[in-house]
Amino acid sequence: MHDQAEALRLKMIRNQRPVARSIAIISGKGGVGKSNFTANFSYALVAKGKKVLIVDMDIGMGNIHILFGATPTYHLKDYLTDIQRLEDVVTPIEENLAFIAGGSGLETVVEWSDTMFNRLIEAFSILQMEYDVILFDMGAGATKSSIDLILAMDEIILIATPEPTSITDAYSMIKFICLQDANKTIRIVSNRVLKEQDGRDSVARLQLAMRRFLSVETSILGFLPDDIHVRNAVIAQSPFVKLYPDAKVSKRMLAITDTFMHGDKPSTSIETSGFIDKIKGIFQKGRV
Ligand SMILES: Nc1ncnc2c1ncn2[C@@H]1O[C@H](COP(=O)(O)OP(=O)(O)OP(=O)(O)O)[C@@H](O)[C@H]1O
Ligand SMILES: [Mg+2]
Repeated sequence: MHDQAEALRLKMIRNQRPVARSIAIISGKGGVGKSNFTANFSYALVAKGKKVLIVDMDIGMGNIHILFGATPTYHLKDYLTDIQRLEDVVTPIEENLAFIAGGSGLETVVEWSDTMFNRLIEAFSILQMEYDVILFDMGAGATKSSIDLILAMDEIILIATPEPTSITDAYSMIKFICLQDANKTIRIVSNRVLKEQDGRDSVARLQLAMRRFLSVETSILGFLPDDIHVRNAVIAQSPFVKLYPDAKVSKRMLAITDTFMHGDKPSTSIETSGFIDKIKGIFQKGRV
């Protein structure tokens, strides 16, 4: 499977024009806000002029479409299992924003076969030419297949709440990833923060543990407050940045988006090889 992750990465590198930045949105513990982050981050990126595709990787239990109040006809699985064409599973939300649904309800959760992985590689090589950013909303927990996919992405955004359980699970997830690739670009979003200092302290602890025990440097993308507007937006099935642009959580999301687009890349870990850095440099040239 690792060969496949590498094949996917190389396929992306080989393309001549700037290709989409591929971002895996992950967490350790589930339910910490990945899907809400993905939906609103995508919306904020579009507001800042980017063309964005969301891929709901929570096959069988995806809910991104619900957050947009959309009813997709087909799901990622329909493409992966060769039932539908790629264009049929890409559902537009509005100009410059589209998603591929993960499917929900009674569908069986699939373990990825080699054929499905190859279909996904094929899809990326087409979609990356069309979009500036592709966001992968990963399901909770780590399966072997999901780790392989995360390893193939350019960057990781790790969502964690300040709760100790979220922080320890986030550490375990990053450890798992970094044992296989110590050179991943990882940024942290601290979500559902009640007091900013608590958010800062919890992220500082997480970063310290990752630096000390995994030799991994990460950066902070930002903090999102615990805000009733998030829940209200879920109920209204529309992004909070769209419905409540003046809410604190929306303003923070826009700040996070600015940092993502213009901010510094995190410094790399001790194990960094110059070769990989160069490849990454070429790969990222001309992107967002
Ligand atoms: N900043 C926030 N303020 C208040 N509530 C929030 C915030 N972020 C997320 N929530 C709430 O947390 C719940 C879970 O969020 P979400 O579905 O985005 O998590 P998830 O990480 O995608 O979950 P899963 O692991 O199951 O995919 C939602 O009901 C949402 O309303
Ligand atoms: Mg989710």
